[in-house]
Amino acid sequence: GDVKKIAVLKGDYIGPEIMTAALQVLEAIAPKYDFKYELEDLPFGGDGIDRAGDPLPASTVETAKQADAILLSSIGGPKWDDAPRRPETGLLEIRSALGLFANIRPTTVVESQIDRSPLKAEIVKGTDFVIVRELTSGAYFGKPRELREKDAIDTIYYSKDEVERIMRVGFQMAQQRRKKVTIVDKSNVLATSKLWRARAEEIAKDFADVAVDYRYVDAMAMGIVARPTDFDVVITPNLFGDILSDEAAQITGSIGQIPSMSIGADGPNLYEPIHGSAPDIAGQGIANPFSMVNTVAMMVENSFQEKAMAAEMRQAIATVTAAGTVTPDMGGSAKTQDIVAAMIASIKES
Ligand code: NAD
Ligand code: IPM
Ligand code: MN
Repeated sequence: GDVKKIAVLKGDYIGPEIMTAALQVLEAIAPKYDFKYELEDLPFGGDGIDRAGDPLPASTVETAKQADAILLSSIGGPKWDDAPRRPETGLLEIRSALGLFANIRPTTVVESQIDRSPLKAEIVKGTDFVIVRELTSGAYFGKPRELREKDAIDTIYYSKDEVERIMRVGFQMAQQRRKKVTIVDKSNVLATSKLWRARAEEIAKDFADVAVDYRYVDAMAMGIVARPTDFDVVITPNLFGDILSDEAAQITGSIGQIPSMSIGADGPNLYEPIHGSAPDIAGQGIANPFSMVNTVAMMVENSFQEKAMAAEMRQAIATVTAAGTVTPDMGGSAKTQDIVAAMIASIKES
């Protein structure tokens, strides 16, 4: 087949550690599926500041747009917290520049993970939902936004069109899953949330086969840990999605396992773990690479239709988890490279 072009934005602190690990796994598994690819390493985030003077060099945007998929690892950290343009600014800008308005964050608890969850087995068993987070508007992008001498201001903005397009992504996804949507908002207080709920009620009419449930975000924060099996597709504004997805991640035992996919109207999808650059554990070789491996699996499945390869990568994670080969965040003592070795052994055996 043809050679897929993958833009690699390797990240900061643990970012490059888990990127390297996941690419080692990809390299081991790709020949089995005759999957051919080439990687393009692009400066971005703190690494962009160091190598090219900016967290999002114009050349990175241009090259990323031409790729078949974009693979990104976590950015930011104390080294650049006082930079005039921080790594995080680059992240928001690349999402916006590529029009990646929908961010899909899965929470799935498979059998091998049940005992790693901080919740009771009977509560987490069968958990399988996705958070559909609006990614290019809301509190993250509204203007004015300014830190001044004596006060500061942020703005939450949503247009009708922005709400409707994210709703359609979520409802369509539900049709391919268990046909249940949960709309999250704060419509008892916020105007943008009133718009959010009103548009959801309207769009729902086009998806008569999908059951819809409405929750305020505070009650949802409780519901996610009280009854995580209640949910299938959760559609939420940008800021609420950021917060709820870290909470949901912990149900699986560690945020260090969770991937995401960002999609727009056209152009390549972007894939990244949901967690940050974990400066507290960087350089020790103990970062959990599962998030990045799951991110690569999500990429090959969704951008390259390599379902069987994705399934085998996930199976390898389940196998090494069941064998107790996990990093400290999951209660184990394995190093990142122990996980890579165990995963590659599992791939070679199967
Ligand atoms: P974080 O997600 O980096 O870390 C939170 C906790 O989770 C830490 O204890 C960390 O050690 C742990 N953790 C996260 N990923 C892990 C992994 N793969 N393996 C093992 N443990 C893991 O959040 P933070 O500390 O609030 O932020 C650190 C930096 O990352 C900040 O600069 C922040 O802005 C940035 N950040 C970037 C992204 C991104 O690139 N998408 C996302 C979130 C935060
Ligand atoms: C995430 C991160 C980013 C966000 C930060 C680093 C800008 O927390 O991807 O969840 O808030 O979107
Ligand atoms: Mn976040």
